[in-house]
Amino acid sequence: MSGKLSGKVAIVTGGAGGFGKGIAEKFKQEGAEVIIADFVEEAGQKTASELKCEFQKCNVTSRQDWEALLKFADEKFGKIDCVINNAGTTYRNKPTNDVMDEDFDKCFAVNVKAIYYSTNVLVPYMQKQGTGGSFVSIASTAGIRPRPGLTWYNASKAAVINATNTMAVEFAKDNIRFNSVCPVVALGTGLTDLFLGKPENEKTFIATVPLGRGSTPKDIANVCSFLCSSDAEFLTGTNIPVDGGRCV
Ligand SMILES: NC(=O)c1ccc[n+]([C@@H]2O[C@H](COP(=O)([O-])OP(=O)(O)OC[C@H]3O[C@@H](n4cnc5c(N)ncnc54)[C@H](O)[C@@H]3O)[C@@H](O)[C@H]2O)c1
Repeated sequence: MSGKLSGKVAIVTGGAGGFGKGIAEKFKQEGAEVIIADFVEEAGQKTASELKCEFQKCNVTSRQDWEALLKFADEKFGKIDCVINNAGTTYRNKPTNDVMDEDFDKCFAVNVKAIYYSTNVLVPYMQKQGTGGSFVSIASTAGIRPRPGLTWYNASKAAVINATNTMAVEFAKDNIRFNSVCPVVALGTGLTDLFLGKPENEKTFIATVPLGRGSTPKDIANVCSFLCSSDAEFLTGTNIPVDGGRCV
């Protein structure tokens, strides 16, 4: 590994498993100090001790939890350089007329409002810090190339991309960069089954990916690590599909 994140302090939300665990692992390998923020305590602690990361219990839909996370990072490391807003959720793929209020509210709370909290709480701290920063939002190909059955999940990810781009422009003066990553469906992370609706749909879906497979935590982690490194110092407001050509 090149140590290209050496000296940086990163927060990874939803880092207990799935993509978040892959991102935390890669950031550690590249030399960063990593705080895993997840609302599942046991799995979060386990992953953190396995990867030699810190763990802070945090429900990303709670402003108080974000404030506690900031306090924890400040007391432990005295700074925050990178925030990977990875925690996300969906409802099971289904006809849009069957979506319930709870499905809609959960998608927008975890996928969108949490990013609002992350920036509303952490950006003023980074501005005061005065050394810039990097936010990466894990959006989805669903946000740029939506498919039926996940209307409000898709819309929540489109909102993530739009907000990311808006903040990229607004906070460029502080050298706080905002970029998003759009994974195509992964096989075997926590949400896969909900996206696909039925296991039989896996083959049909993968047939639509030119490179012929789903994404992996490693694919997503590699791009997040690049975006937080100095190699990407002139990139802000970009949205990178990590999708094997699916969105072409
Ligand atoms: N897996 C895919 O196929 C896929 C495709 C495109 C985009 N994404 C996006 O990637 C991200 C990660 O997905 P994944 O498949 O790794 O999911 P996952 O379910 O495997 O992991 C998500 C993690 O987020 C945590 N989390 C959920 N709600 C939380 C909350 N309110 N507060 C704190 N932590 C919370 C969970 O405990 C879990 O550890 C999500 O934003 C998802 O929308 C996933």
